[in-house]
Amino acid sequence: MDNTMRILALSILLLFLVALINFLHKVWWLPMRIQHLLFSQGIKGPPHRFLHGNTIEISEMRENFMNRKLQLSHDIFQTLQPHIYLWSKIYGKNFLHWPGAGAELVISEPELIKEMLYDRGQYFSRSEVDKYLKKILGEAIFTSEGEKWFKLRKLANQAFHAESLRNMIPAMVESVEGMLGRWKNYEGKEIDANEEFRVLSAEVISRTAFGSNYLEGQKIFHMLRKLAILSCKNSHKIRLPRISNIFKDRYDLEAEKLEKRIRDSVLEIVKKRQNTKTGEISFGEDFLGLHLRAHYNANGSDKISVQELIDQCKTFYTAGQGTTSILLSWTILLLAIHTDWQEKAREEVLELFGQQPPNSEGIGRLKTMSMIINESLRLYPPSVYTERKAKKGAKLGNFILPANMNVHVPILAIHHDPKIWGKDADIFDPERFSSGIAAATNNNPAAFLPFSLGPRTCVGADFATVEAKISLSMILQRYTFTLSPNYVHSPVQIVSLRPQHGVQVVINAL
Ligand code: HEM
Repeated sequence: MDNTMRILALSILLLFLVALINFLHKVWWLPMRIQHLLFSQGIKGPPHRFLHGNTIEISEMRENFMNRKLQLSHDIFQTLQPHIYLWSKIYGKNFLHWPGAGAELVISEPELIKEMLYDRGQYFSRSEVDKYLKKILGEAIFTSEGEKWFKLRKLANQAFHAESLRNMIPAMVESVEGMLGRWKNYEGKEIDANEEFRVLSAEVISRTAFGSNYLEGQKIFHMLRKLAILSCKNSHKIRLPRISNIFKDRYDLEAEKLEKRIRDSVLEIVKKRQNTKTGEISFGEDFLGLHLRAHYNANGSDKISVQELIDQCKTFYTAGQGTTSILLSWTILLLAIHTDWQEKAREEVLELFGQQPPNSEGIGRLKTMSMIINESLRLYPPSVYTERKAKKGAKLGNFILPANMNVHVPILAIHHDPKIWGKDADIFDPERFSSGIAAATNNNPAAFLPFSLGPRTCVGADFATVEAKISLSMILQRYTFTLSPNYVHSPVQIVSLRPQHGVQVVINAL
């Protein structure tokens, strides 16, 4: 072997060694160090396994429990998250596990939850969202941090403050009217309430976000739904990062086309709001109008770009539509099973509104319905967890956390915890909310978190509850409903907690 060959072989060997050391550092040394750091502070958990962490154990446990046929029970925590159920019993309220590539600390202690969720960016940031979810949410309020988040959050708060919400009621009523108009053809028959509510909440968000341009808005949301389905399909594919940026497959190309069409359609609506002679824009008071004003009129740090405007539309559709329709689906299921509560809710609605459409004053007085909605959100929280990522030097209580570690708040587990809710934690009993949330939770804000807590709490919580109250009131005014024998109880977690096979109920006119 001559010298050149020898140098070449040595260089290859060196490169190989460096790559191997890097690899071992990432998959073995780093996890060992993190584990040691947390174990030495008293946080325990299942041991990290070389290469896969705990992913194999988690999927095996999930498979075992998923095969257990769920009768019509609300005891769903153990089935959906058996690993959290088991490990919190073995290792305590706070434990460390390895559900994917990295470490994750699960925290259930109220003081820690509050401390983390009320943090204003000092020690924690939003944890990274899937690549596929990012495509649907864009770079808007959900995925941003710091000044950009603050600017977009201010706008979103404005879009959903009490006065704006009051103005949205007629649009919500009109959308529910449309749905109930379709139900006339199904009287005495079965409907899939889950599918009905999907269509309804998409329409509500189109009307409220785009006002007079809601038909165009619906088209945009239709494209966003297609993009979401495409991104979902794509998310399971294994791809090499650099190569996939150069060679795009059919899905990538279609997604790109959709993104362009969405952008063009938003710009088209903007044009329609522009006076062709003077060039002035009549912004309007809806969600789009607010954002347009922030694009054209705002200065400095308050100004938003066209891309931010488009991404805000994407986020609100994605965050707002899925969750609200799921809340409605689980609530209808609970009322179809517990017909005594259905009757109580109907009595209240008829007393407040008779056969008139719900109004803002009456909506505020729907006490029984609020109790039912809270109990539905407790048993079937559409978001089963929330998460943050630790920044460098992050502290939580007395713990020091490694940078980039995810910290997970298990909302579903907390909502089903018998230590908080009593032995009947898995039973539907809206009565527990009869004196309000504070009394039901013993003044523990970390015990009931359907919309999370702190500065990043759900900005659409009131919007969702008002929409749910209007929809349920109008349904109860016209129909009784019972569970269809075709319903199969199979809650699944696909981003949100969904009824896998829909919610089939039989409706009868009053
Ligand atoms: C029942 C319905 C809903 C539930 C259960 C729900 C739940 C949540 C949760 C748990 C979070 C995460 C908070 C955190 O990071 O800790 C969140 C954030 C958010 N939600 Fe909702 N949501 C609902 C409806 C809506 C609606 C109707 C909209 C808008 C139309 C909306 C828009 C958002 C946005 C924009 C964020 C991000 C807020 C931020 O990062 O500042 N949500 N939601």
